[in-house]
Amino acid sequence: MPAVRAAQLYKIFGKRASRAVQLLSDGRHRDEIGHLNVTAAVIDVSFEVRAGEIFVVMGLSGSGKSTLIRMLNGLLEPTSGSVEIDGTDITRLSGAELRRLRSRKISMVFQHFALFPHRSVLENAAYGLEVRGVAREERLEQARHALGLVGLAGWEDRLPHQLSGGMQQRVGLARALAADTDIILMDEAFSALDPLIRRDMQAQLLELQATLGKTIIFITHDLNEAMRLGDRICVLRDGRVAQIGTAEEILNDPANDYVAQFVEDVDRTRVLTASSVMEPPIPVIDPANGPRAALRTMRDNQTVSAFVVRRNRQLVGAVREGAIGEAVRTGVTELDGLIDTGIERVHPDTAVADLFHQAAESPYPLAVVDDDGRLVGVIPRVTLLAALAPANGESGDRSGPPDADAVVTPAPEAPAPAAQDDEGRER
Ligand SMILES: Nc1ncnc2c1ncn2[C@@H]1O[C@H](COP(=O)(O)OP(=O)(O)O)[C@@H](O)[C@H]1O
Ligand SMILES: [Mg+2]
Repeated sequence: MPAVRAAQLYKIFGKRASRAVQLLSDGRHRDEIGHLNVTAAVIDVSFEVRAGEIFVVMGLSGSGKSTLIRMLNGLLEPTSGSVEIDGTDITRLSGAELRRLRSRKISMVFQHFALFPHRSVLENAAYGLEVRGVAREERLEQARHALGLVGLAGWEDRLPHQLSGGMQQRVGLARALAADTDIILMDEAFSALDPLIRRDMQAQLLELQATLGKTIIFITHDLNEAMRLGDRICVLRDGRVAQIGTAEEILNDPANDYVAQFVEDVDRTRVLTASSVMEPPIPVIDPANGPRAALRTMRDNQTVSAFVVRRNRQLVGAVREGAIGEAVRTGVTELDGLIDTGIERVHPDTAVADLFHQAAESPYPLAVVDDDGRLVGVIPRVTLLAALAPANGESGDRSGPPDADAVVTPAPEAPAPAAQDDEGRER
C-alpha cells in the first residue's frame, strides 16, 4: 500500500468549479476555460508515494504545488478526486477525524518557518505534540531529542530570533521529527535560505531520511534541488503533471519539450552518480588463477587490463597485459606480485562531477566498489565523457565512440565477454 496516493485530483477556485472539471477532464487547457472565471490550480493529478520515499513536486511559481500539498494533508478540500493516506481516503473523513489523522500521521514544514516568536526553541519544537495533547514532560523530551538530530543541542532555551535562518528552519524540521509522524510535507522549506546553508540542509535531510526512513513530499521550484533530493520527481506544469520519474529518467528521457527545456540547464554531473554510468566489470580475473590464464582472459576479451576479484566479488586490484605477458615469458606462476592494489575506488553514490579527477589520475577504468568492498561496476574514462552529453541524440548510449579509450575497455564490437556466474567470476 502506498503511503500517499492522489487519484485524479482537481482543485478549481471559483464558482463554476465542477463545470471546469468537466471541461478540463476532456483535455482542455486551463487557458481555454477563461470564460468560466475560475482558477484551475490542480488538474487531474495522480501519483503514489511509497513509504520511505522522498517524492519531490517541482514546478514554476503558480504551477499548483502549494495547492496540491494542502490537499494532501486535508487543509484544502479537492474539487474532485481522492487523497489516500495509508489507504484511508481523507476526503471522506469528518473534520475531527481528519485533524486526528493529520496530527498523528502528517507533519508540515513551511518556507517561512512558522515559529512562535515568544516561545523557546524547545517549546517550538514540541508544538506538534502539544497539539496532539501529549503531556508536557514527554513532549519536551521528544523535542529535545529531535533538536539533537538536527544539530541544535544546546539551543533549546533560545528564542527563534536569536537563531540564523538556517537554524530556524532546523527548528521547523525538528518540530516535524518530534511529532514522529511517518509523513513529512515540506513546502519550499529551503527556498528562503542562502545557497550554502541550503545545500547543508539538503544534505542533512538526506542523512536524516536515510536513518529515520520518513516518507517525505518535498516541494520546490528549483530543479537542482529536486534532482538532489528526490527519489522520484513529479514535474507540474500549469496544474498538470508533465512527468513523474527518477532524476535520471527525467534527464535522459524527458516526456515532452517542456521538461526537456527545463532540464537543459541542469548540471548533469551533479545528478548522475557512479552507479548510473558504470558498466559491468568484464572481464574479471580470479586471484587463484595464474598469469597465463589471466593473459588469456584479457586477450579473449581484447582488453589490456582487468580487475582481479575474489569469488565473493571482493576487489583485490587490477592487472595489466604488459606486466602479465612479461611474467609469463619469464616463467612466473603466481599472480600475487603482479596485482596493482593501489587502484582508484569510488562509491556507487559518488556524483559524476567528483569522478573526473580520479579518472584522470588512473591508468585503469574507475572501480566502483560498494560498502562491502565488492566490485559492482567499472567506469572507463570515455563513459564519463559520454555521461556529459545531453539527453537527446545518443541518449541512453553511454558507451561512447567505439574506438576511443580502447586501451582500457573492450571495444563494443568485441566478441561476447567471458561467461560469468553469479559471483562475477569466469566460468
Ligand atoms: N485560495 C485561492 N483562491 C484563488 N486562487 C488561488 C488560491 N490559492 C492559489 N490560487 C491560485 O492557484 C494557482 C496555483 O497556486 P499555488 O498552488 O500557490 O502555486 P505554487 O505553489 O506552485 O506557486 C495560482 O494561479 C494561484 O493564484
Ligand atoms: Mg507555493
